[in-house]
Amino acid sequence: MTDQPSLGGPPPQSSVDPQVPHPARIYDYLLGGKDHYTADRAAAEETIRRAPQVRESARANRAWMRRAVRYLAGRGVRQFLDIGTGIPTSPNLHEVAQEASPDCRVVYADNDPVVLAHARALLSSTPQGRTAYVQADVRRPDEILTAPELWSTLDRDRPVALMLSAILHFVRDEEDPGGIVAALRDALPPGSYLALSHTTNDIQPERAANAAAVYGERRAAALMVPRPLDRVTAFFDGFDVVEPGVVQLPRWHPDGPVPPRLLDEVWLYGGVGRLHDG
Ligand SMILES: C[S@@+](CC[C@H](N)C(=O)[O-])C[C@H]1O[C@@H](n2cnc3c(N)ncnc32)[C@H](O)[C@@H]1O
Repeated sequence: MTDQPSLGGPPPQSSVDPQVPHPARIYDYLLGGKDHYTADRAAAEETIRRAPQVRESARANRAWMRRAVRYLAGRGVRQFLDIGTGIPTSPNLHEVAQEASPDCRVVYADNDPVVLAHARALLSSTPQGRTAYVQADVRRPDEILTAPELWSTLDRDRPVALMLSAILHFVRDEEDPGGIVAALRDALPPGSYLALSHTTNDIQPERAANAAAVYGERRAAALMVPRPLDRVTAFFDGFDVVEPGVVQLPRWHPDGPVPPRLLDEVWLYGGVGRLHDG
């Protein structure tokens, strides 16, 4: 075990505190990646001890992201704003989108400097498409919306898919996650979409609450706030949610039969909505 992440890119340009577990690195550990410090691994292991299926949840979330991107590309969306990108994990969002259509453009945003250090892997666009990376915090949506990279990469006149995959449960109620989504929504061009996934404690309330508590107990960079179905659905205010609605991730446009055990093990909801016309 080392206290250095094995970074493939340049060193992070803003400060990383290896003593403070960070959601991006905990998630990377859960997905079997290699970019995490001792404190991240300890927090992840404690979460696994309390909720052994959490790795399955992480994999299911990543698989849902891929299905949602393919679904959106299939409806003609060619532009994506992915906030809370995560440490690159192949295939990354732009790779999924550009496999569907090589001209897709993707702007990534995350607040973990370790993700920034890996931005090179996120910038490997096809020649026909484009990608950009913005170091930013979703709790300050204006910083994302006014970042020069955003509208120099994406066309303001064409639909954008706003991707909020497994990030809003790191925003506390006092930080107004609904207001954040509304601010981002109001900047989207007509015909845009929201794709959002979010942890819940509806499935196994006590175990989910106990596992989420690790973030507070370990003084992680963000707390984990699981929310019930009605609260997750409320984030789609101003959008028409597409079939099958906001559902447990394995139920959302599955690639094949859903093993029943996944419905016990995946404690996240997700959905896709299309911005109301007018
Ligand atoms: C669980 S990972 C999800 C990664 C990816 N979206 C996916 O679904 O596979 C959550 C990501 O959100 C980022 N994040 C958490 N809080 C954030 C914030 N306030 N602003 C920007 N990014 C944040 C973390 O750094 C991490 O990369």
